[in-house]
Amino acid sequence: MSDAKLSTPHHPRPQWRSRMGFILAALGSAVGLGNIWRFSYLCYKNGGGAFLIPYLIALFVVGIPLMILELGIGHRMRGSSPMSLAKVDPRWEWCGWWAVICAMYGIMLYYSVVISWCMQYVFFSFDLSWGKDSNDFFFNQFLQISSGPLDFGNIRTPIIFSLVAVWFFSWIIVFFGVQKGVERANKIFMPLLFVLITVLVIWSVNLEGAGRGLAVYLKPDFSLLTDPQIWIDAFSQIFFTLSLAFGIMIAYASYLPRKVDIVKDALIISVGNCAFSFFAGFAVFGTLGYMATQTGQPVGDVVKESIGLAFVTYPQAISLMPAFAQVFGVVFFVSLVIAGLSSAVSLVEAFSSAVIDKFHYARGTVVSIVCITGFFGSIVFTANSGLFWIDIVDHFITHYGLVLIGLMECIVIGWIFKASKLRKHIDTASGKVLSGSWDVCIRFVTPLVLGMLLINDLNGELAKPYEGYPWMALLMIGRDWLMVALIVSLFIAMRPWKRALEESD
Ligand code: ALA
Repeated sequence: MSDAKLSTPHHPRPQWRSRMGFILAALGSAVGLGNIWRFSYLCYKNGGGAFLIPYLIALFVVGIPLMILELGIGHRMRGSSPMSLAKVDPRWEWCGWWAVICAMYGIMLYYSVVISWCMQYVFFSFDLSWGKDSNDFFFNQFLQISSGPLDFGNIRTPIIFSLVAVWFFSWIIVFFGVQKGVERANKIFMPLLFVLITVLVIWSVNLEGAGRGLAVYLKPDFSLLTDPQIWIDAFSQIFFTLSLAFGIMIAYASYLPRKVDIVKDALIISVGNCAFSFFAGFAVFGTLGYMATQTGQPVGDVVKESIGLAFVTYPQAISLMPAFAQVFGVVFFVSLVIAGLSSAVSLVEAFSSAVIDKFHYARGTVVSIVCITGFFGSIVFTANSGLFWIDIVDHFITHYGLVLIGLMECIVIGWIFKASKLRKHIDTASGKVLSGSWDVCIRFVTPLVLGMLLINDLNGELAKPYEGYPWMALLMIGRDWLMVALIVSLFIAMRPWKRALEESD
Protein backbone atom coordinates (compact mmCIF):
# COMPACT_ATOMS: atom_id res chain seq x y z
CA MET A 1 0.00 0.00 0.00
CA SER A 2 1.05 3.59 -0.41
CA ASP A 3 3.07 5.74 1.88
CA ALA A 4 0.22 8.20 2.01
CA LYS A 5 -0.25 10.19 5.18
CA LEU A 6 -3.39 10.89 7.11
CA SER A 7 -5.10 14.21 6.72
CA THR A 8 -8.54 15.67 7.25
CA PRO A 9 -10.15 16.95 4.08
CA HIS A 10 -11.70 20.40 4.46
CA HIS A 11 -14.52 19.66 2.04
CA PRO A 12 -16.38 16.43 2.65
CA ARG A 13 -16.61 14.35 -0.52
CA PRO A 14 -19.93 14.73 -2.31
CA GLN A 15 -22.24 11.71 -2.23
CA TRP A 16 -25.03 10.41 -4.42
CA ARG A 17 -28.43 11.03 -2.93
CA SER A 18 -29.62 7.49 -3.68
CA ARG A 19 -28.41 4.22 -5.15
CA MET A 20 -30.81 4.64 -8.05
CA GLY A 21 -29.31 8.09 -8.64
CA PHE A 22 -25.84 6.57 -8.91
CA ILE A 23 -26.95 3.75 -11.21
CA LEU A 24 -28.77 6.15 -13.51
CA ALA A 25 -25.76 8.48 -13.61
CA ALA A 26 -23.37 5.60 -14.39
CA LEU A 27 -25.78 4.28 -17.00
CA GLY A 28 -26.10 7.80 -18.35
CA SER A 29 -22.35 7.88 -18.79
CA ALA A 30 -22.23 4.46 -20.42
CA VAL A 31 -25.24 4.87 -22.67
CA GLY A 32 -24.24 7.49 -25.18
CA LEU A 33 -23.58 8.13 -28.83
CA GLY A 34 -21.54 4.93 -28.64
CA ASN A 35 -24.68 2.85 -28.17
CA ILE A 36 -26.58 4.19 -31.14
CA TRP A 37 -24.16 5.83 -33.54
CA ARG A 38 -20.95 3.87 -32.93
CA PHE A 39 -22.39 0.45 -32.04
CA SER A 40 -24.65 0.43 -35.09
CA TYR A 41 -21.97 1.34 -37.57
CA LEU A 42 -19.50 -1.13 -36.09
CA CYS A 43 -22.15 -3.82 -36.17
CA TYR A 44 -23.04 -2.98 -39.76
CA LYS A 45 -19.39 -2.86 -40.84
CA ASN A 46 -18.63 -6.18 -39.14
CA GLY A 47 -21.44 -8.30 -40.50
CA GLY A 48 -24.30 -7.51 -38.11
CA GLY A 49 -24.93 -10.56 -35.93
CA ALA A 50 -21.34 -11.73 -36.25
CA PHE A 51 -20.20 -8.66 -34.34
CA LEU A 52 -22.41 -9.54 -31.38
CA ILE A 53 -20.31 -12.63 -30.60
CA PRO A 54 -16.94 -10.93 -29.96
CA TYR A 55 -18.87 -8.05 -28.40
CA LEU A 56 -20.41 -10.34 -25.78
CA ILE A 57 -17.11 -12.11 -25.17
CA ALA A 58 -15.43 -8.73 -24.68
CA LEU A 59 -18.17 -7.77 -22.22
CA PHE A 60 -17.49 -10.81 -20.04
CA VAL A 61 -13.70 -11.02 -20.37
CA VAL A 62 -12.87 -7.34 -20.10
CA GLY A 63 -15.98 -5.21 -19.55
CA ILE A 64 -17.46 -6.64 -16.37
CA PRO A 65 -14.14 -7.45 -14.60
CA LEU A 66 -12.84 -3.93 -15.28
CA MET A 67 -16.12 -2.34 -14.26
CA ILE A 68 -15.87 -4.13 -10.89
CA LEU A 69 -12.24 -3.03 -10.63
CA GLU A 70 -12.98 0.64 -11.37
CA LEU A 71 -15.99 0.84 -9.07
CA GLY A 72 -14.06 -1.07 -6.40
CA ILE A 73 -10.93 1.09 -6.44
CA GLY A 74 -12.85 4.38 -6.64
CA HIS A 75 -14.95 3.30 -3.68
CA ARG A 76 -11.97 2.00 -1.70
CA MET A 77 -9.78 5.08 -2.26
CA ARG A 78 -12.60 7.64 -2.32
CA GLY A 79 -10.89 9.53 -5.07
CA SER A 80 -10.84 10.36 -8.76
CA SER A 81 -8.73 8.23 -11.08
CA PRO A 82 -5.35 10.00 -10.45
CA MET A 83 -5.98 10.16 -6.73
CA SER A 84 -6.97 6.49 -6.49
CA LEU A 85 -3.93 5.32 -8.43
CA ALA A 86 -1.63 7.67 -6.50
CA LYS A 87 -2.92 6.15 -3.26
CA VAL A 88 -2.00 2.70 -4.56
CA ASP A 89 1.42 3.81 -5.71
CA PRO A 90 2.37 7.46 -6.35
CA ARG A 91 4.50 6.36 -9.30
CA TRP A 92 1.31 5.45 -11.18
CA GLU A 93 -0.55 8.70 -10.66
CA TRP A 94 0.22 9.76 -14.24
CA CYS A 95 -1.83 6.85 -15.57
CA GLY A 96 -4.90 8.25 -13.81
CA TRP A 97 -4.23 11.63 -15.41
CA TRP A 98 -3.74 10.07 -18.80
CA ALA A 99 -7.19 8.48 -18.51
CA VAL A 100 -9.00 11.68 -17.58
CA ILE A 101 -7.07 13.85 -20.05
CA CYS A 102 -7.76 11.44 -22.93
CA ALA A 103 -11.41 11.45 -21.88
CA MET A 104 -11.79 15.20 -21.49
CA TYR A 105 -9.31 16.67 -23.97
CA GLY A 106 -9.63 13.83 -26.47
CA ILE A 107 -12.97 12.11 -26.52
CA MET A 108 -15.09 14.98 -25.15
CA LEU A 109 -13.69 17.41 -27.70
CA TYR A 110 -14.96 15.46 -30.68
CA TYR A 111 -17.91 13.93 -28.83
CA SER A 112 -19.30 17.41 -28.24
CA VAL A 113 -19.03 18.14 -31.96
CA VAL A 114 -20.95 14.98 -32.88
CA ILE A 115 -23.67 15.92 -30.36
CA SER A 116 -23.80 19.36 -31.95
CA TRP A 117 -24.35 17.76 -35.38
CA CYS A 118 -27.22 15.77 -33.84
CA MET A 119 -28.70 19.00 -32.47
CA GLN A 120 -28.62 20.54 -35.90
CA TYR A 121 -30.19 17.44 -37.39
CA VAL A 122 -33.10 17.79 -34.95
CA PHE A 123 -33.85 21.08 -36.70
CA PHE A 124 -33.13 19.70 -40.14
CA SER A 125 -35.74 17.02 -39.42
CA PHE A 126 -38.54 19.57 -39.27
CA ASP A 127 -38.42 20.12 -43.01
CA LEU A 128 -36.23 17.16 -44.02
CA SER A 129 -33.58 19.67 -45.10
CA TRP A 130 -31.29 16.98 -46.49
CA GLY A 131 -33.62 16.61 -49.47
CA LYS A 132 -33.14 13.74 -51.88
CA ASP A 133 -29.38 13.35 -51.49
CA SER A 134 -28.55 13.03 -47.79
CA ASN A 135 -24.99 12.03 -48.63
CA ASP A 136 -24.30 15.22 -50.56
CA PHE A 137 -26.09 17.22 -47.86
CA PHE A 138 -24.03 15.81 -44.99
CA PHE A 139 -20.59 15.79 -46.57
CA ASN A 140 -20.71 18.67 -49.03
CA GLN A 141 -23.28 21.10 -47.70
CA PHE A 142 -23.26 20.57 -43.94
CA LEU A 143 -19.63 19.62 -43.24
CA GLN A 144 -18.23 21.00 -46.50
CA ILE A 145 -15.67 18.28 -46.08
CA SER A 146 -12.12 18.90 -47.24
CA SER A 147 -10.03 16.56 -49.36
CA GLY A 148 -8.33 14.89 -46.37
CA PRO A 149 -7.08 15.34 -42.82
CA LEU A 150 -4.09 17.42 -43.88
CA ASP A 151 -6.28 19.81 -45.85
CA PHE A 152 -7.50 21.57 -42.67
CA GLY A 153 -9.90 24.01 -44.30
CA ASN A 154 -11.96 26.59 -42.43
CA ILE A 155 -14.07 26.48 -39.31
CA ARG A 156 -17.75 25.78 -40.06
CA THR A 157 -19.44 28.60 -38.18
CA PRO A 158 -22.98 27.12 -38.22
CA ILE A 159 -21.73 24.13 -36.21
CA ILE A 160 -20.25 26.44 -33.58
CA PHE A 161 -23.72 27.63 -32.49
CA SER A 162 -24.92 24.18 -31.49
CA LEU A 163 -21.49 23.43 -30.05
CA VAL A 164 -21.90 26.36 -27.66
CA ALA A 165 -25.21 24.83 -26.55
CA VAL A 166 -23.58 21.43 -25.89
CA TRP A 167 -20.86 22.97 -23.76
CA PHE A 168 -23.33 25.19 -21.98
CA PHE A 169 -25.53 22.23 -20.96
CA SER A 170 -22.51 20.18 -19.89
CA TRP A 171 -21.16 23.10 -17.91
CA ILE A 172 -24.36 23.93 -16.09
CA ILE A 173 -25.03 20.31 -15.09
CA VAL A 174 -21.53 19.61 -13.77
CA PHE A 175 -21.34 23.08 -12.20
CA PHE A 176 -24.24 22.21 -9.90
CA GLY A 177 -22.36 19.21 -8.58
CA VAL A 178 -22.94 15.53 -8.08
CA GLN A 179 -26.39 15.56 -6.48
CA LYS A 180 -28.00 18.71 -7.84
CA GLY A 181 -26.44 18.50 -11.28
CA VAL A 182 -25.32 15.08 -12.51
CA GLU A 183 -27.76 12.95 -10.50
CA ARG A 184 -30.76 15.15 -11.12
CA ALA A 185 -30.11 15.50 -14.86
CA ASN A 186 -29.74 11.75 -15.34
CA LYS A 187 -32.97 11.08 -13.47
CA ILE A 188 -34.66 12.97 -16.29
CA PHE A 189 -32.40 11.97 -19.20
CA MET A 190 -32.39 8.22 -18.75
CA PRO A 191 -36.10 7.43 -18.48
CA LEU A 192 -36.77 9.89 -21.31
CA LEU A 193 -34.15 8.24 -23.51
CA PHE A 194 -35.60 4.82 -22.82
CA VAL A 195 -39.10 5.96 -23.80
CA LEU A 196 -37.82 7.59 -27.02
CA ILE A 197 -35.82 4.54 -28.03
CA THR A 198 -38.75 2.25 -27.31
CA VAL A 199 -40.93 4.39 -29.57
CA LEU A 200 -38.28 4.16 -32.31
CA VAL A 201 -37.87 0.40 -31.97
CA ILE A 202 -41.61 -0.31 -32.10
CA TRP A 203 -41.98 2.04 -35.04
CA SER A 204 -38.99 0.66 -36.96
CA VAL A 205 -39.67 -3.05 -36.59
CA ASN A 206 -43.16 -2.52 -37.94
CA LEU A 207 -41.96 -0.87 -41.15
CA GLU A 208 -42.31 -2.79 -44.38
CA GLY A 209 -39.24 -4.97 -44.98
CA ALA A 210 -37.83 -4.38 -41.48
CA GLY A 211 -37.42 -8.15 -41.14
CA ARG A 212 -34.71 -8.12 -43.80
CA GLY A 213 -32.59 -5.76 -41.73
CA LEU A 214 -33.26 -7.71 -38.56
CA ALA A 215 -32.16 -10.91 -40.27
CA VAL A 216 -28.75 -9.33 -40.96
CA TYR A 217 -28.63 -8.07 -37.37
CA LEU A 218 -29.48 -11.34 -35.73
CA LYS A 219 -27.98 -14.02 -37.99
CA PRO A 220 -24.25 -14.36 -37.41
CA ASP A 221 -21.96 -15.11 -40.30
CA PHE A 222 -19.40 -17.17 -38.41
CA SER A 223 -16.83 -16.98 -41.20
CA LEU A 224 -16.24 -13.31 -40.33
CA LEU A 225 -14.95 -14.27 -36.89
CA THR A 226 -11.57 -15.22 -38.33
CA ASP A 227 -10.88 -11.58 -39.13
CA PRO A 228 -8.91 -10.05 -36.22
CA GLN A 229 -10.41 -6.64 -37.00
CA ILE A 230 -13.84 -7.66 -35.77
CA TRP A 231 -12.31 -8.67 -32.42
CA ILE A 232 -10.31 -5.47 -32.14
CA ASP A 233 -13.40 -3.39 -32.92
CA ALA A 234 -15.48 -5.31 -30.36
CA PHE A 235 -12.99 -4.95 -27.52
CA SER A 236 -12.33 -1.27 -28.10
CA GLN A 237 -16.08 -0.68 -28.38
CA ILE A 238 -16.55 -2.30 -24.96
CA PHE A 239 -14.16 0.24 -23.43
CA PHE A 240 -15.88 3.11 -25.17
CA THR A 241 -19.43 2.04 -24.48
CA LEU A 242 -18.90 1.19 -20.81
CA SER A 243 -16.88 4.39 -20.26
CA LEU A 244 -13.99 2.27 -18.99
CA ALA A 245 -10.45 3.63 -18.69
CA PHE A 246 -11.85 7.16 -18.86
CA GLY A 247 -11.58 7.62 -15.09
CA ILE A 248 -15.34 8.15 -14.98
CA MET A 249 -16.45 5.05 -13.13
CA ILE A 250 -13.65 5.50 -10.58
CA ALA A 251 -14.80 9.06 -9.84
CA TYR A 252 -18.47 8.09 -9.75
CA ALA A 253 -17.77 5.22 -7.31
CA SER A 254 -15.88 7.60 -5.04
CA TYR A 255 -19.19 9.35 -4.33
CA LEU A 256 -20.85 6.15 -3.08
CA PRO A 257 -21.65 5.48 0.57
CA ARG A 258 -19.54 2.92 2.46
CA LYS A 259 -22.09 0.12 2.20
CA VAL A 260 -22.84 -0.70 -1.40
CA ASP A 261 -23.18 -3.82 -3.51
CA ILE A 262 -20.41 -3.04 -6.00
CA VAL A 263 -20.64 -6.27 -7.96
CA LYS A 264 -24.38 -6.05 -8.42
CA ASP A 265 -24.15 -2.42 -9.50
CA ALA A 266 -21.31 -3.22 -11.90
CA LEU A 267 -23.45 -5.95 -13.46
CA ILE A 268 -26.50 -3.71 -13.73
CA ILE A 269 -24.48 -0.95 -15.42
CA SER A 270 -22.54 -3.21 -17.81
CA VAL A 271 -25.34 -5.54 -18.82
CA GLY A 272 -27.89 -2.71 -18.83
CA ASN A 273 -25.72 -0.67 -21.18
CA CYS A 274 -25.11 -3.51 -23.62
CA ALA A 275 -28.76 -4.54 -23.53
CA PHE A 276 -29.61 -0.95 -24.44
CA SER A 277 -27.27 -1.09 -27.45
CA PHE A 278 -28.78 -4.38 -28.55
CA PHE A 279 -32.29 -2.97 -28.18
CA ALA A 280 -31.43 0.22 -30.09
CA GLY A 281 -29.94 -1.98 -32.83
CA PHE A 282 -33.47 -3.16 -33.67
CA ALA A 283 -34.44 0.40 -34.56
CA VAL A 284 -31.37 0.87 -36.74
CA PHE A 285 -31.45 -2.46 -38.56
CA GLY A 286 -35.25 -2.42 -38.88
CA THR A 287 -34.94 0.94 -40.61
CA LEU A 288 -32.12 -0.34 -42.83
CA GLY A 289 -34.33 -3.27 -43.88
CA TYR A 290 -37.11 -0.84 -44.72
CA MET A 291 -34.75 1.29 -46.72
CA ALA A 292 -33.35 -1.69 -48.62
CA THR A 293 -36.89 -2.68 -49.54
CA GLN A 294 -37.80 0.82 -50.70
CA THR A 295 -34.68 1.28 -52.80
CA GLY A 296 -34.49 -2.31 -54.07
CA GLN A 297 -30.98 -2.88 -52.73
CA PRO A 298 -29.53 -5.60 -50.50
CA VAL A 299 -29.31 -4.52 -46.83
CA GLY A 300 -25.53 -4.81 -47.06
CA ASP A 301 -25.40 -2.07 -49.70
CA VAL A 302 -27.58 0.67 -48.22
CA VAL A 303 -24.85 2.21 -46.08
CA LYS A 304 -21.93 3.59 -48.01
CA GLU A 305 -19.88 5.21 -45.26
CA SER A 306 -20.30 3.39 -41.98
CA ILE A 307 -19.35 6.46 -39.92
CA GLY A 308 -22.08 8.40 -41.70
CA LEU A 309 -24.81 5.89 -40.87
CA ALA A 310 -26.63 8.22 -38.50
CA PHE A 311 -26.24 11.29 -40.69
CA VAL A 312 -26.54 9.89 -44.18
CA THR A 313 -28.43 6.63 -44.20
CA TYR A 314 -30.84 7.44 -41.41
CA PRO A 315 -31.97 10.77 -42.84
CA GLN A 316 -32.50 9.06 -46.19
CA ALA A 317 -34.59 6.40 -44.48
CA ILE A 318 -36.55 9.09 -42.63
CA SER A 319 -37.41 10.77 -45.93
CA LEU A 320 -38.78 7.48 -47.17
CA MET A 321 -41.14 7.07 -44.18
CA PRO A 322 -44.74 6.57 -45.22
CA ALA A 323 -46.04 8.96 -42.52
CA PHE A 324 -44.83 11.30 -39.78
CA ALA A 325 -41.32 11.34 -41.23
CA GLN A 326 -40.49 14.58 -39.44
CA VAL A 327 -41.56 13.20 -36.08
CA PHE A 328 -39.44 10.10 -36.63
CA GLY A 329 -36.43 12.27 -37.42
CA VAL A 330 -36.92 14.48 -34.39
CA VAL A 331 -37.31 11.48 -32.04
CA PHE A 332 -34.18 9.83 -33.45
CA PHE A 333 -31.93 12.88 -33.22
CA VAL A 334 -33.31 14.03 -29.86
CA SER A 335 -32.47 10.54 -28.53
CA LEU A 336 -28.92 10.94 -29.78
CA VAL A 337 -28.62 14.38 -28.18
CA ILE A 338 -29.87 13.13 -24.80
CA ALA A 339 -27.69 10.02 -24.88
CA GLY A 340 -24.72 12.17 -25.83
CA LEU A 341 -25.27 14.84 -23.21
CA SER A 342 -25.56 12.38 -20.32
CA SER A 343 -22.17 10.94 -21.31
CA ALA A 344 -20.62 14.35 -21.99
CA VAL A 345 -21.44 15.37 -18.45
CA SER A 346 -19.52 12.37 -17.08
CA LEU A 347 -16.48 13.14 -19.24
CA VAL A 348 -16.33 16.66 -17.82
CA GLU A 349 -16.97 15.42 -14.27
CA ALA A 350 -14.16 12.82 -14.36
CA PHE A 351 -11.54 15.42 -15.25
CA SER A 352 -12.94 18.14 -13.00
CA SER A 353 -13.05 15.86 -9.97
CA ALA A 354 -9.40 14.92 -10.59
CA VAL A 355 -8.35 18.58 -10.63
CA ILE A 356 -10.43 19.35 -7.53
CA ASP A 357 -8.88 16.37 -5.69
CA LYS A 358 -5.36 17.41 -6.54
CA PHE A 359 -5.42 21.19 -6.29
CA HIS A 360 -8.51 21.82 -4.14
CA TYR A 361 -9.80 24.69 -6.28
CA ALA A 362 -13.50 25.48 -6.04
CA ARG A 363 -15.72 23.25 -8.20
CA GLY A 364 -17.34 26.19 -9.97
CA THR A 365 -14.00 27.61 -11.06
CA VAL A 366 -12.63 24.26 -12.20
CA VAL A 367 -15.73 23.27 -14.16
CA SER A 368 -15.96 26.69 -15.81
CA ILE A 369 -12.32 26.68 -16.91
CA VAL A 370 -12.56 23.07 -18.09
CA CYS A 371 -15.65 23.79 -20.19
CA ILE A 372 -14.29 27.02 -21.68
CA THR A 373 -10.99 25.41 -22.68
CA GLY A 374 -12.90 22.34 -23.86
CA PHE A 375 -15.14 24.45 -26.04
CA PHE A 376 -12.18 26.17 -27.72
CA GLY A 377 -10.40 22.85 -28.14
CA SER A 378 -13.42 21.25 -29.77
CA ILE A 379 -13.54 23.94 -32.45
CA VAL A 380 -10.71 22.08 -34.22
CA PHE A 381 -13.21 19.34 -35.07
CA THR A 382 -15.65 21.76 -36.64
CA ALA A 383 -13.27 22.55 -39.49
CA ASN A 384 -13.84 21.18 -42.97
CA SER A 385 -11.43 18.38 -42.12
CA GLY A 386 -13.24 17.72 -38.80
CA LEU A 387 -14.70 14.35 -39.72
CA PHE A 388 -11.26 13.00 -40.65
CA TRP A 389 -9.80 14.33 -37.42
CA ILE A 390 -12.62 12.78 -35.40
CA ASP A 391 -12.05 9.46 -37.10
CA ILE A 392 -8.30 9.50 -36.44
CA VAL A 393 -8.39 10.76 -32.84
CA ASP A 394 -11.22 8.34 -32.00
CA HIS A 395 -9.27 5.48 -33.54
CA PHE A 396 -6.07 6.19 -31.63
CA ILE A 397 -7.71 6.90 -28.28
CA THR A 398 -10.09 3.94 -28.30
CA HIS A 399 -7.72 1.42 -29.89
CA TYR A 400 -4.53 2.37 -28.07
CA GLY A 401 -5.17 4.86 -25.25
CA LEU A 402 -8.10 3.15 -23.55
CA VAL A 403 -6.80 -0.38 -24.06
CA LEU A 404 -3.37 0.56 -22.70
CA ILE A 405 -4.86 2.36 -19.71
CA GLY A 406 -7.13 -0.65 -19.01
CA LEU A 407 -4.08 -2.92 -19.18
CA MET A 408 -2.17 -0.72 -16.76
CA GLU A 409 -5.12 -0.64 -14.37
CA CYS A 410 -4.97 -4.45 -14.28
CA ILE A 411 -1.26 -4.32 -13.45
CA VAL A 412 -1.55 -1.60 -10.80
CA ILE A 413 -4.57 -3.09 -9.04
CA GLY A 414 -4.02 -6.77 -9.80
CA TRP A 415 -0.33 -6.91 -8.98
CA ILE A 416 0.77 -3.86 -7.00
CA PHE A 417 -2.30 -3.26 -4.85
CA LYS A 418 -3.30 -6.95 -5.14
CA ALA A 419 -6.60 -8.04 -6.61
CA SER A 420 -7.37 -10.15 -3.54
CA LYS A 421 -7.12 -7.10 -1.29
CA LEU A 422 -9.55 -5.12 -3.41
CA ARG A 423 -11.85 -8.15 -3.59
CA LYS A 424 -11.95 -8.27 0.22
CA HIS A 425 -12.88 -4.61 0.30
CA ILE A 426 -15.65 -5.23 -2.24
CA ASP A 427 -16.90 -8.16 -0.12
CA THR A 428 -16.99 -6.03 3.02
CA ALA A 429 -18.79 -3.19 1.26
CA SER A 430 -21.44 -5.45 -0.25
CA GLY A 431 -21.75 -8.08 2.47
CA LYS A 432 -21.40 -10.76 -0.22
CA VAL A 433 -18.55 -12.83 -1.60
CA LEU A 434 -17.03 -12.12 -5.00
CA SER A 435 -15.53 -15.22 -6.57
CA GLY A 436 -11.72 -15.55 -6.54
CA SER A 437 -11.88 -16.10 -10.30
CA TRP A 438 -12.17 -12.32 -10.57
CA ASP A 439 -8.56 -12.09 -9.29
CA VAL A 440 -7.47 -14.52 -12.00
CA CYS A 441 -9.26 -12.44 -14.58
CA ILE A 442 -7.71 -9.14 -13.45
CA ARG A 443 -4.20 -10.52 -12.96
CA PHE A 444 -3.96 -12.82 -15.98
CA VAL A 445 -6.85 -13.16 -18.40
CA THR A 446 -7.84 -9.51 -18.99
CA PRO A 447 -4.27 -8.12 -19.29
CA LEU A 448 -3.25 -11.01 -21.53
CA VAL A 449 -6.19 -10.48 -23.86
CA LEU A 450 -5.61 -6.72 -23.91
CA GLY A 451 -1.89 -7.21 -24.57
CA MET A 452 -2.60 -9.52 -27.49
CA LEU A 453 -5.13 -7.10 -28.82
CA LEU A 454 -2.65 -4.23 -28.71
CA ILE A 455 0.05 -6.20 -30.49
CA ASN A 456 -2.37 -7.38 -33.17
CA ASP A 457 -3.76 -3.91 -33.64
CA LEU A 458 -0.33 -2.37 -33.93
CA ASN A 459 0.74 -5.02 -36.40
CA GLY A 460 -2.25 -4.39 -38.61
CA GLU A 461 -1.73 -0.65 -38.31
CA LEU A 462 1.90 -0.83 -39.40
CA ALA A 463 1.05 -3.05 -42.35
CA LYS A 464 -1.67 -0.77 -43.61
CA PRO A 465 -2.33 2.82 -42.51
CA TYR A 466 -5.75 3.24 -40.89
CA GLU A 467 -8.43 3.93 -43.52
CA GLY A 468 -5.68 4.70 -46.00
CA TYR A 469 -4.94 8.08 -44.41
CA PRO A 470 -1.45 9.50 -45.02
CA TRP A 471 1.07 8.40 -42.39
CA MET A 472 1.88 11.98 -41.62
CA ALA A 473 -1.76 12.65 -40.66
CA LEU A 474 -2.02 9.52 -38.52
CA LEU A 475 1.16 10.31 -36.63
CA MET A 476 0.57 14.01 -36.20
CA ILE A 477 -3.09 13.86 -35.30
CA GLY A 478 -3.54 10.44 -33.69
CA ARG A 479 -0.25 9.39 -32.15
CA ASP A 480 0.75 12.89 -31.12
CA TRP A 481 -2.64 13.52 -29.51
CA LEU A 482 -1.94 10.57 -27.21
CA MET A 483 1.67 11.64 -26.69
CA VAL A 484 0.84 15.22 -25.74
CA ALA A 485 -1.80 13.91 -23.31
CA LEU A 486 0.83 11.59 -21.85
CA ILE A 487 3.42 14.34 -21.40
CA VAL A 488 0.87 16.63 -19.74
CA SER A 489 -0.14 13.72 -17.46
CA LEU A 490 3.44 13.13 -16.39
CA PHE A 491 3.88 16.82 -15.74
CA ILE A 492 0.73 17.15 -13.59
CA ALA A 493 1.59 13.95 -11.71
CA MET A 494 4.92 15.52 -10.70
CA ARG A 495 3.20 18.49 -9.10
CA PRO A 496 2.67 18.18 -5.35
CA TRP A 497 -0.76 17.43 -3.89
CA LYS A 498 -2.35 20.46 -2.28
CA ARG A 499 -3.14 18.27 0.73
CA ALA A 500 -1.42 15.05 1.65
CA LEU A 501 -3.18 12.00 0.33
CA GLU A 502 -5.51 10.47 2.82
CA GLU A 503 -5.15 6.77 3.59
CA SER A 504 -8.53 5.14 3.20
CA ASP A 505 -8.14 2.04 5.35
N1 ALA B 1 -19.88 5.52 -23.01
C1 ALA B 1 -20.16 6.63 -23.82
C2 ALA B 1 -20.73 6.22 -25.12
O1 ALA B 1 -20.91 5.07 -25.38
C3 ALA B 1 -18.95 7.48 -23.98
O2 ALA B 1 -21.04 7.03 -25.92
